[in-house]
Amino acid sequence: MSVLTIDAGTTGVTALVVSENGVVLARGYQEFAQHYPESGWVEHVPEEIWQATLAACQAALDITDDAPTCIGITNQRETAVLWNRKRGSSPRRAIVWQDRRTAGICTELRDAGHEPRVTELTGLRLDPYFTATKLTWMKRNDQRAWSGVEAGEVVVGTVDSYLISRLTGGAKHVTDASNASRTLLYDIRAGQWSDELCDLFGVPRSALPEVVPSYGTVGESEPDEFLGLRLPIAGIAGDQQAAMFGQNCYIPGSSKCTYGTGSFVLVNTGDEAVAPEHGLLSTVLWQHPDGRIDYALEGAIFVTGAAVQWLRDGLGLIDSAPQSEALARSVDDSGGVVFVPALTGLGAPDWDPYARGSIFGITRGTGRAHLARATLDAIAFEVRDVVDAMATSSGTSLPELRVDGGASANDLLCQMQADQLGVSVARPRIQETTALGAAFLAGLGTGVWSSTDELMDTWKLDRRFEPGERDDAAYTRWRTAVERSKGWANL
Ligand code: G3P
Repeated sequence: MSVLTIDAGTTGVTALVVSENGVVLARGYQEFAQHYPESGWVEHVPEEIWQATLAACQAALDITDDAPTCIGITNQRETAVLWNRKRGSSPRRAIVWQDRRTAGICTELRDAGHEPRVTELTGLRLDPYFTATKLTWMKRNDQRAWSGVEAGEVVVGTVDSYLISRLTGGAKHVTDASNASRTLLYDIRAGQWSDELCDLFGVPRSALPEVVPSYGTVGESEPDEFLGLRLPIAGIAGDQQAAMFGQNCYIPGSSKCTYGTGSFVLVNTGDEAVAPEHGLLSTVLWQHPDGRIDYALEGAIFVTGAAVQWLRDGLGLIDSAPQSEALARSVDDSGGVVFVPALTGLGAPDWDPYARGSIFGITRGTGRAHLARATLDAIAFEVRDVVDAMATSSGTSLPELRVDGGASANDLLCQMQADQLGVSVARPRIQETTALGAAFLAGLGTGVWSSTDELMDTWKLDRRFEPGERDDAAYTRWRTAVERSKGWANL
């Protein structure tokens, strides 16, 4: 028995076929285009996400003879998608989680005094990151597309619900509770859409998907639409929650950090949705088929791996992301250079949509290696910022941090991370834990695995990085640089 898992990330779609032993049998990947129509705007074409999904799945299925028995889905969260429920076509591009265009709407709602109530219901804050203000923006600025929503022909959702609709030929309009909890429209304790919030953001509740548990069969793929396959769709979770599942973080207190486009540190808080403080978020981790919900505290950092990508694509300093390690190792330190990669504003713990990327401390002696080193420093500092916030919030420090995602393959970064945190960093053998987590959810939902206890055996350590000496002066410089980067887009 095996599971087909789809990880629809921010820059591309990964498909894995995972065996019942938790071994990755086959992999496919397809990138899709990023659109930046204005400064601070980021858009995706939904049809391109769907075509990338088909291509990635086909590529994975071509490699293995093992026919999967179910599908798991995980996805970039918060991105707002509209599509015609019957036809599957979208009347406009999706507004991506990184998009900052709704900063003004957030300020307007904050000034009107709505933020405390929004946080109380959702565990989140008024920031352009989340889905709801993107929908408010569409309603105010794209009447052509929004009129379809008001007429009931066009529906609204995040990338998981869009893909499930396409997979099922329009038969299902569902999302799971972990994705719903990122929209600003979902009451995380009541476990349902909030009419009060739908009114506040101007979103018709009837256009939203049905919220379902994170595992258990919700529908079947339609062979005419999906590569001739009729398979149960049995696991759904936002990518960071799926990574928690893939890292076996099932018990309260367990935590992980995923290094993707951004980095997201989550700590399992069990059945309690903790009131978020110190720039953290409280969010749904997953919902069990019996309705029980587990929660997490989250530190959401917007740009980490994307900063390395920028060194490659924006500056041409490196040819590939892994080269950043060798280049950064070629110098002992950043030579006093501090890079704040606030390329799409700042998320946790500072939350400033008007911050922009800045580089401080450049001298005549500064070279590309110093900038590469400063980029890795920045990633380690950003993660320290949110882990420190978690320690302040809970009064206890993490025993260890499990890491995964693309940049976790970088040994230098893992060591710098352990040094900055003062706790050991544990890297598993399989670092694509987001996709793995969605496979585990789907397999649990269809009986490939019977319990999370069984899944615990699948986690294998690749390498542990123990903390060494920590450069607190460098961290103090980092914090000064962060403060100086704030508000830049507003000047
Ligand atoms: O909340 C945004 C997050 O889901 C994006 O993840 O892996 O595409 O960087 P990723």
